[in-house]
Amino acid sequence: MDFNDKRVLITGGGGFIGSHIAANLEKKGFKIRLFDLNFDNLDTLCKKLGYCSKAEKVVGNILDTISLASAVEGCDYVVHAAAMLGVKNTEQKSLECLNVNILGAINILEACVKEGVKRIIFTSSSEVYGEPVECPIKETNSTSPVSLYGVSKLAGEEYMKAYQKKYGLEFSIVRFFNVYGPGQVAEFVMPRFIKNVLNNEPPVVYGSGNQIRAFCFVEDAAEGVSQVLTEGNGKNQIFNIGNDEESISMKDLAEKVIKISGKDLKPQFASMRDSDREESREIHRRIPTIYQARQLLKYKPQFSLEQGIRKVIEADCIFDTWHTS
Ligand SMILES: NC(=O)c1ccc[n+]([C@@H]2O[C@H](COP(=O)([O-])OP(=O)(O)OC[C@H]3O[C@@H](n4cnc5c(N)ncnc54)[C@H](O)[C@@H]3O)[C@@H](O)[C@H]2O)c1
Repeated sequence: MDFNDKRVLITGGGGFIGSHIAANLEKKGFKIRLFDLNFDNLDTLCKKLGYCSKAEKVVGNILDTISLASAVEGCDYVVHAAAMLGVKNTEQKSLECLNVNILGAINILEACVKEGVKRIIFTSSSEVYGEPVECPIKETNSTSPVSLYGVSKLAGEEYMKAYQKKYGLEFSIVRFFNVYGPGQVAEFVMPRFIKNVLNNEPPVVYGSGNQIRAFCFVEDAAEGVSQVLTEGNGKNQIFNIGNDEESISMKDLAEKVIKISGKDLKPQFASMRDSDREESREIHRRIPTIYQARQLLKYKPQFSLEQGIRKVIEADCIFDTWHTS
């Protein structure tokens, strides 16, 4: 299929995953428009990676319905990736989280309906599952988020389904599992470990370090989103997008990052109290099944954990924290 005349709006397109989705879709011939509060991080990432997108950049807030409507105008598809992130961050600013993640999702849906957008792709999160009853986690597992962030993403998903029923607007929901790569903020475990090691400091493991995660390199995640649009089977579906092949405990991840960096360091252990989460709401084991994406989209992660970690180390582009304006 030829996508040369198709225009995609990516909200949060100046952010970590949004910018990698833009790079992927641009290579496939889509015309890209990015919408974000600012593009400072994207400009730095472009310089570091030696790649600069031709995408049109629109500065705006998803809570401003007028600038949002003009950004959506003329777009065939929308990838909605703008959001407030982080478990602690969203709980410290719970009303802002409600506004940006839920009202923001409704604003973009309204704009899509008015402008006749064909499909919206909503970037959701494995946080919607909470502590899984069954692991690996299937899309059909029960959703029981334990964080406000997870609740806000689940609400966003439900609005996607409701707008499809009411207006016939097609949706696809992608639930990302621990995406990492160049251009991420050091609020997440992988960039935090790598940043420490690059600064010759030990990676700090919170709690026992026995928590298990499956990490997905951002170019694989971006390819998953892109296939949702291009493969034809993504309509009104929910997909786990992650990498199910190399799940790892946090203490082993710390050791792995040190080994790959070649530095003479040892992981340090600290209390969960200093982390992003309380101990009582820690997710102990989070591994996806990506069977649905493999079957319907032909999705197949390409980057091993070691290759991905090496790419983050080489790019040396980890931001301290989120921009707030
Ligand atoms: N990184 C992960 O592992 C992960 C996992 C699960 C889900 N997600 C989801 O993927 C999406 C992208 O996440 P990311 O990791 O790239 O985060 P990010 O913070 O790098 O990107 C989010 C972008 O949204 C923008 N934004 C925030 N509020 C806005 C507003 N009011 N108006 C316009 N733009 C606004 C930010 O400026 C930022 O550039 C989010 O929806 C997130 O919930 C990410």
